[in-house]
Amino acid sequence: MTSTSHRFSRRDFLKLGAAGSLLSWVPVSRLAAAASPMQYRLTAVKAGVQLAQSPFPETEVWTFNRESPGPLLRLRQGEPARIAVKNELEQPLTVHWHGLRIVNNMDGVPQLTQPPIDPGQEFVYEYTPPDAGTFWYHSHVNTAEQIGRGLYGPLIVEEREPYAVDREALWVLDDWRLDNEAQIVGDFDRQRDLARAGRLGNTVTVNSRTPRSFDVRAGERVRLRLLNAANARIFSLRFQGHRPVVIARDGQPLEPYAPGTAITIGPAQRLDLLLDMTRQPGERFAVLDTQYPQSPFKLMDIVYGEQPALRTSMPEAVPSLPANPIPEPDLSDPQLQPVVLAGGDLGRLQNAILGDKELDITRLYLLGKMWAINGRVSSGYTDIPLFTVERGRTVLLDFQNDTAWPHPMHLHGHHFKVVEHSSDSTVVGQWLDTVMLGPEERAKVAFVADNPGGWLFHCHILGHVRSGMMAVIRVG
Ligand code: C2O
Ligand code: CU
Repeated sequence: MTSTSHRFSRRDFLKLGAAGSLLSWVPVSRLAAAASPMQYRLTAVKAGVQLAQSPFPETEVWTFNRESPGPLLRLRQGEPARIAVKNELEQPLTVHWHGLRIVNNMDGVPQLTQPPIDPGQEFVYEYTPPDAGTFWYHSHVNTAEQIGRGLYGPLIVEEREPYAVDREALWVLDDWRLDNEAQIVGDFDRQRDLARAGRLGNTVTVNSRTPRSFDVRAGERVRLRLLNAANARIFSLRFQGHRPVVIARDGQPLEPYAPGTAITIGPAQRLDLLLDMTRQPGERFAVLDTQYPQSPFKLMDIVYGEQPALRTSMPEAVPSLPANPIPEPDLSDPQLQPVVLAGGDLGRLQNAILGDKELDITRLYLLGKMWAINGRVSSGYTDIPLFTVERGRTVLLDFQNDTAWPHPMHLHGHHFKVVEHSSDSTVVGQWLDTVMLGPEERAKVAFVADNPGGWLFHCHILGHVRSGMMAVIRVG
């Protein structure tokens, strides 16, 4: 049997409040014979989704299976998956499995790892995810527009043994730039966005809906998975009246900790939280986003139902998730790679190399290219590699953000361990696939280059990718 029958519908997202509703569709996959791969079918197609509140009309978005976020894919750690992708849009596309350390020819980067899937065509992805955790998938062609128009979805790789909570929930965060008719504004090349903080929208959604409430029961323990699918927006969440504990980041388990301040999640990042519902039946608490102090807003209300508490005292301990099998970097003799991010408005970049020419910044701006990594502006997925590393060697990336803007830097095919960070000590020691570098910040991250092939390495502010902040590395 296949698992295509239990795709995650938008209605399921809304139902997350009812205890057990999210778990009710999990066991279906458990019935599949262990030897047969998990199977899904994704069709990229335009569809209307009610993003803004009525009386606004539905927004035309680009979807997988007529939903954005696309259906939740649930895979199992160490077990093969087979995902057929059909393209019914007018542009070519690919699907990248963000954060999965899988074989290179399934990584979904056009030209670099596969030919794009042309309109009307189909491509079958087959791979075995080595790590359990919270991941996502998205198109990797014309990403600022395709992801910006909705072409992405969540992906969960289940742990071999279920982690003990009463309930799981998933919040996919996005923001959209909508016009007065609630349609997506198509200015994906607006210079001010490309050269600054990226494209911020005017409508924030959680699981593609607004307004939002999160219905809970007193005494529940909830595993809340957060995914930031926005092109550029960073979220800093404050859970009023609650004390969330972080149990994983970018899919990778960590030593559970309760952040003292807001919980920040940059574009493409994921966070798994353990949220104990310690308040009383009938109470209500806001979840605020305070990332942009000039425009704080309420993301969500946590709404306690009237049922009596599920238990009177919460379990004290927050168990760790089992670690994934990532090789430990050898820091005694790493290949040291400086990574200098430069460009953008208010930056110091004077010239950079694009293709085989050195151009001055004025000329680069005219070409819509404002960002460079180590003095080179990306011209596409077939650039010569930024560096090559022998398979099995530890690489130490020494980031220097020489710009006035934040950059969530993502590496394909690997997770890296943060060794140093100039302003965020909480990430030191964590395994990430996307590390946030604020203006003028520095960080060092290390990984064992154990996955052969050409891998993309880029900022996940998608306007920055479009305007040059991308490179290829080669593990040989
Ligand atoms: Cu989310 Cu190049 O990827
Ligand atoms: Cu960037």
